[in-house]
Formats: sequence, structure tokens, C-alpha cells
Amino acid sequence: MYKFAVFGNPVQHSLSPTIHNLFARQCDLSVQYDAIECTLSAFAITVRDFFLCGGHGANVTLPFKEHAFALANTVSSAARLAGAANTLCRSDDRTLFAENTDGLGLIRDLTTTQGLNLTHCRILLLGAGGAARGVLGPLMQATTHPVTLVNRTLAKAKDVAAHFSRVGKVITRSYAELADDHYDVIINATSASLSSTLPALPDTLSCRNALVYDMMYSKKPTIFMQWAKNQGASVVCDGLGMLLEQAAESFYLWTQHRPEVLAVRRQLLHPSRPL
Ligand code: ATR
Repeated sequence: MYKFAVFGNPVQHSLSPTIHNLFARQCDLSVQYDAIECTLSAFAITVRDFFLCGGHGANVTLPFKEHAFALANTVSSAARLAGAANTLCRSDDRTLFAENTDGLGLIRDLTTTQGLNLTHCRILLLGAGGAARGVLGPLMQATTHPVTLVNRTLAKAKDVAAHFSRVGKVITRSYAELADDHYDVIINATSASLSSTLPALPDTLSCRNALVYDMMYSKKPTIFMQWAKNQGASVVCDGLGMLLEQAAESFYLWTQHRPEVLAVRRQLLHPSRPL
């Protein structure tokens, strides 16, 4: 039996156990997937104990992604670029390996589920925290245009842009400077939706013909999604697809089985239907 867990604080709300149990059923694998809540000071020892006691793989969510990255002996290039990891597993030599599947998860959702060709898209990314850093590199690699990064604290956006300059060009903006701009894709990677607040987006920022994406998942449309609809967005998405895709990447890393994400998404939204 595979033993997996998600570490976070809080973590009880996490959909990861449900998602991974559905992946396991679909792939006909025996999996135990727990949600483990711990304090920051206990994080390293709790993770080490989990792997010493036979754990095969772990997901890491807020607020531990940077700590998971620091804890690992080896890291993937995506995790190194983000400075954060959402997936841990043991390498063949029993040391800890860290991966970040968030960016790939977002790109997969945008390109496969939403059918978007990102190559010529002008992308606006809101936020410069861990969530934004996790997706910025893959977004920069997906489009030929420079990605525009906006953050409430502009200095933080500039630091992030400098860090990512090895991948390509990032344009930084304050929210006020977005007035009258137009983008093909607007992605909210701030934590504002968590507190039902809206970043200070100017009314004149047009979303016409744009795909607008809130990386947060909630049962009801977030305040940001409502704003996007009012601004004329042609497609408005929450973060469920990204959550599923990043989970599928972790599952694949641990088991070498690739789940069918769309079937699991249907099952999550309509639990009474067969998988
Ligand atoms: P996470 O790991 O979820 O990214 P974080 O590292 O604390 O969390 O970063 C939160 C991000 O959301 C930051 O970019 C923050 O902006 P600041 O750097 O200016 O603090 C952004 N954020 C949070 N609340 C916001 C709000 N009400 N409006 C705009 N941005 C907000």
C-alpha cells in the first residue's frame, strides 16, 4: 500500500485526500492519504518521521512550501526557481527530493481543460508571494511575450522579477498603472480571495475577450471572479483545475501512474455519478 500525506496548517479543509483517493481508485492502487497539521517548528521532524515510518510521498501546502524546499536534499529546477516545493518524495538513496508541480498544474489546466494556446498571450499575474513564484517560471516559458507582474508592495514584485530574469523578461507594474491595459490572460495569485477582498484593480482595466483565473478554489465564485465577469471576461475560472492537475503530477511522480483528471473533476463536482 502507498502511504501519502498532505502537510499544512490549517489542512483539514484540504481537498487533496479526496482527490488522491479518487486517483487511487481510478488507477486501481491501494493508497492511504492523510492530512497532517503541525506547527512550523514541528514541520521538519514531522515530515522526517512520516518518511521514516514508510511514507512514500507528501504534498505540502500553506504555510510550509518554502520550508519543504529548504528541507530537501535535492530539488527540481521548477522548485529551485520558485524557492518553494509542494511535493516531496524519497530518492533511491533515501534522501528527500522536492518538486514544485503548481506551475505545470496551472499550465495544464489552461492549455488542456481551457484549450488555450498560450504562445502569443499577454499574461498579467497578480501577486508576488509564494503562489505567484510557483507559477511565474512556467508562465514565462509558455508565452513569447514578457509576463506582467503586479503587486500591492511593488518592491516585492521587482525582487521577484530580478530573480526570474534568468528565465526571461518580467514587466512590473503597480495596480494603478494597469489602467487601460489589456491582457489575454489575467491570473490572481494573491491571497486576497481568502479574505474575500479584491486587489486594487482599476475599473478601466478591460477583461474583454480575456480568460481570467483565480488560483483559489471555492464552491461559490470568488469576489475576483465576480469582478472579472463584470469587466467583460470571456472565460472565468477558479483554481480547481490547477489543484487537480498539480495533484496528478505529484501522483505520477510517486506512482508512475497518470490519472485521468477530467473524470476525477466530474466525480468531484457530481459525486453520485460513476467514476
Ligand atoms: P502565498 O504563499 O499564498 O502567495 P504570501 O507569500 O503571503 O502567500 O503572498 C500573498 C500575496 O498576496 C502577496 O503578493 C500579497 O501582496 P503584498 O506582497 O503586497 O503583501 C498579496 N495580497 C494579499 N492580500 C492582498 C490584497 N488585499 N490586495 C492585493 N494583494 C494582496
